[in-house]
Amino acid sequence: MNSNPDNGLVLGFSETESAAAAVARQLGWKFESVDLHHFPDGESRIRIPELRGNSVIIFRSLDQPNQKLVELLLCVRHLRDAGSATIVLVAPYLCYMRQDAEFTTGEVISQRWIGAWLDELVDGLVTVDPHLHRVHRLEDVLPHTCCGLVSAAPLAGELARRSFVDPVLIGPDKESLQWLQLAARGSPSLDHLVASKTRAGDRQVRLHLPDFDLQNRDVMLIDDIASTGTTLLECARLARDRGARDVKAVVTHALFRDGAIPAGPSQALSDIWSTDSVPHPGNRIRLAGPLAAACSDVLEAISGQRAAPSPR
Ligand code: R5P
Repeated sequence: MNSNPDNGLVLGFSETESAAAAVARQLGWKFESVDLHHFPDGESRIRIPELRGNSVIIFRSLDQPNQKLVELLLCVRHLRDAGSATIVLVAPYLCYMRQDAEFTTGEVISQRWIGAWLDELVDGLVTVDPHLHRVHRLEDVLPHTCCGLVSAAPLAGELARRSFVDPVLIGPDKESLQWLQLAARGSPSLDHLVASKTRAGDRQVRLHLPDFDLQNRDVMLIDDIASTGTTLLECARLARDRGARDVKAVVTHALFRDGAIPAGPSQALSDIWSTDSVPHPGNRIRLAGPLAAACSDVLEAISGQRAAPSPR
């Protein structure tokens, strides 16, 4: 990994400062925190400390995204104006990826437009388990950006193995199959099954579990996102109805606000754990190492592209 502090700067924001600083340490880069003030009318004042080096990593998870997207635009334009030639966004949670189709007539396909906007804005993007379903590759969403992908699923699988003896992994919907299979891989591989889900509203989901004997088995639910928690709770209830002994969940992105999901020893779901992609008391998996490795790969790919002779 590049260990020269003069090579670049990692910029972090207060809500994920320690995760951003950890990535800077791993890269051997300098770290600075962006000074951000929200005026009473909702506008933002941004101050970026002294710039050094040509390359900047902006580290910010894009949960609760709307204001953060405007602030990202302001930061990037300022950095470009100040001469930064390479800007990589590390967004452990990448927003707006679920809206990847016109589900009802007239619905905006947010994934496409947010993707196009980011594609024009930055040179590189590093993210974790983006919600890609009908569009399979991040490169199809951001065709001109060097993308680095980290998956938390193998780490979720390790956590399941450490927490339970021979657990059954369950993915609550078909989108989760990609992470479930990665989590279950290993020696020996873990039993795993995927439920089917139909959603009737933000907090209304109906799940169906395939035939599988869960009597006295411990269950770990695996998914990319918990937002309202409805999906995980419904899945946990079905697993308990089938006789599961304990049901916990591990998700990549804990988008729910503290305490929003009823989980605890006397509940259907006894615990919800997550990566630190979004700060939450349930964070159990630190991502700084894999994020820093992905940043190195992306920076290398960008300089390789720039060094390559341009086609006639
Ligand atoms: C959707 O397909 C995602 O993978 C999650 O299952 C979903 O976002 C969870 O939402 P909620 O927690 O609100 O049920």
